[in-house]
Amino acid sequence: MSEEIVYLNGSFLPLHEAHVSVMDRGFLFGDGVYEVIPVYGGRAFRLEHHLQRLDHSLQGVRIDNPLDHGQWSDVLTALIRHNGGGDQSLYLQVTRGVAPRRDHAFPAGVQPTVFAMSTPLGEPGNAVQNGITAVTVDDIRWKHCNIKAITLLPNVLMRQQAIDAGAAEAILLRDGHATEGSASNVFIVRDGVVITPPKSNLLLPGITRDLAVELCHANNIPCREADISAADLRSADEVWVTSSTREVAAVTQLDGQPIGDGRPGPLWQRISALYSAYKQDFRAGKVQ
Ligand code: PDD
Repeated sequence: MSEEIVYLNGSFLPLHEAHVSVMDRGFLFGDGVYEVIPVYGGRAFRLEHHLQRLDHSLQGVRIDNPLDHGQWSDVLTALIRHNGGGDQSLYLQVTRGVAPRRDHAFPAGVQPTVFAMSTPLGEPGNAVQNGITAVTVDDIRWKHCNIKAITLLPNVLMRQQAIDAGAAEAILLRDGHATEGSASNVFIVRDGVVITPPKSNLLLPGITRDLAVELCHANNIPCREADISAADLRSADEVWVTSSTREVAAVTQLDGQPIGDGRPGPLWQRISALYSAYKQDFRAGKVQ
């Protein structure tokens, strides 16, 4: 395969030629925000939703967006093309930029650093078809989890806790309630009703979450936003996690105990089929 092309501060260049200064605030402070956007059939999926969330994240950390939505769209379209079109996963990040010296306070007059790359995106695959395992962990993050900050150390530690326990995802509990996964949103199904926690500063407003809720509403699947206690989670008929890379995945085992009968449930089958159909429509240009 030819070498991946990335975007850095206005230029498209091979990955090995892309360098940023060690004085970049992203490197020294984790001072930046990011997005992960799936690409199907050469087009970025739900681009406008991702760009709006990027705006909110940037506002949340007081960085001016260096590009408008049209410019972002142009950059990402070119990046997709440089990397062969088809299905990809785009990663973009904006940091506060390169400061002359390390100081917590914002540096004056620096330009944000803008970086974007593409990685291959496979189908979620068998693991997801058969369900995934998860463990519950204490949500050790700050109180601005609605900002998609690159400062992911708590998420990294919590995901690794799951991996060390032989599971694929960590579901986070704060004050006895499930907030989300280490890199996903969480849903349960109880008595035929799909439930996900309401948006707040304690969780990321997932683009996949919103689409799953939208698909439920459009297809008469009862769905509501409500807090999910640890007990609700454990006794749920189904548990799902959603993300741009995993789409909607059924959690079939939690903390070593089966969820429902230990297999992906009927409502997961439905939402998964609806999600696939929506992607098909997107590929065919029938939905934006
Ligand atoms: N993460 N919650 C957290 C903490 C996340 O990191 C993510 C996604 C989500 C799901 O958001 P979306 O549906 O918009 O992908 C929820 C990405 C995939 C990542 O960090 O790689």
